[in-house]
Amino acid sequence: MEQRIIDKLKEIKTPYYLYDRTIIENNAETLLGHFERCGAKIFFAAKANTALYILDIIKSQKLGAEVVSPGEIFVCLKAGFTPKQILYNNIARKASDVMYAIRKGVLFYNFEAIDQALVLEQCAKRLRKKIKVFARINPGIFPNTHPHLSTGAPSSKFGMEINQLSEIVKVIKHFKYAEFVGLHSHIGSQILSSTPFVKGVQKVSDSIGYLKSHQIAVEYVNLGGGFGVPYHPDEKPLNFRPIISACEKLAKAHGVKIFLEPGRFIVSNAGYIISEVISIKKRKGMPLYILDAGMTENPRPALYKAYHHIEPLLKKTGSKKKTRIAGPLCENTDEFGIYHLPELRIGDRVLIHNCGAYTRTMASNYNGRLLPPEYVIVKKGLRMIRKKQRFSSLIDNEVY
Ligand code: LLP
Repeated sequence: MEQRIIDKLKEIKTPYYLYDRTIIENNAETLLGHFERCGAKIFFAAKANTALYILDIIKSQKLGAEVVSPGEIFVCLKAGFTPKQILYNNIARKASDVMYAIRKGVLFYNFEAIDQALVLEQCAKRLRKKIKVFARINPGIFPNTHPHLSTGAPSSKFGMEINQLSEIVKVIKHFKYAEFVGLHSHIGSQILSSTPFVKGVQKVSDSIGYLKSHQIAVEYVNLGGGFGVPYHPDEKPLNFRPIISACEKLAKAHGVKIFLEPGRFIVSNAGYIISEVISIKKRKGMPLYILDAGMTENPRPALYKAYHHIEPLLKKTGSKKKTRIAGPLCENTDEFGIYHLPELRIGDRVLIHNCGAYTRTMASNYNGRLLPPEYVIVKKGLRMIRKKQRFSSLIDNEVY
């Protein structure tokens, strides 16, 4: 990080979120470059980060958006995505949610159960609008990630089992307003090995074969997201090569267009939380630093025991010690973990890494804490993109 930026970061009251525009742009370009040869269209999984300014950066990189709720549709439209650039997925939706999306002109939908296919058809019929739909299959693959982030394993609640393909064929043959366009599969998130992706592509390819043998045309395949990023300095980046060649083969073999819907890969390493040490104590001889940011700003360590690298903003040298770092909430799980850090004092600032994805979008007001402001590093310096919440946000919409 440039010194002129660090100088500015010292002046802003902590805690706050910080994003780097250039890193987001580079991540998007990297993915577009990887999948250019197989002509993949990329939709950003908005659940990873819904800040309007961040969505706007992503839109300007020519990516679409993948959403899972009317709320995310609302935000993506506000950010300037056109309805045709939006892909609306979810395990289950009420008719009212689908009607909202169709009225807004959203074109692409998935279904993950036969009853949900019927909801799509009925809503499209009621509004006399054509929509394009994908059937999400569960390929039955263990993606080698945290169990909470595995969505393609046989016991996962997501998708339809491959042995349900005959039921899928039956239901799509009845479609009049919904048009079946292809298969969808998403095997999980934060996957750092290419093998499960390649296996997933193979399962999808077999399923396309089945559909074709039943005279069902397949125009698109949505292979989901899930591309992992290194959170720990010892973790190696995902090797995309085998995934790219599997996608190329799939596209050629079946003449299909490929969709991808990554979230984390685009924004995770472009985001930080800047926080300050507010209390220091010792536990079993080990220093325990309490920060002014915790599970309300970043719930990932509490939810998944996720490691987020932490380093001092300024003090990079000095002998390092084993150190425990926790947040300030009245909750035992509010702890970041154990790190090797130089000795810190009260008021010293730290940089918490990989806070661009699934951090602000999963943040909460627990313990009556106000969500911090968000800033972006742009060419000219720093730009505030969201203000800190006010006390009034804590009682918004209450009827008292
Ligand atoms: N497509 C579907 C259908 C998904 O369910 C997800 C993520 C994505 C795409 C994007 O996955 P990504 O490329 O970001 O891995 N809160 C968790 C992550 C949950 C992911 C949910 N689905 C976390 O903090 O790690």
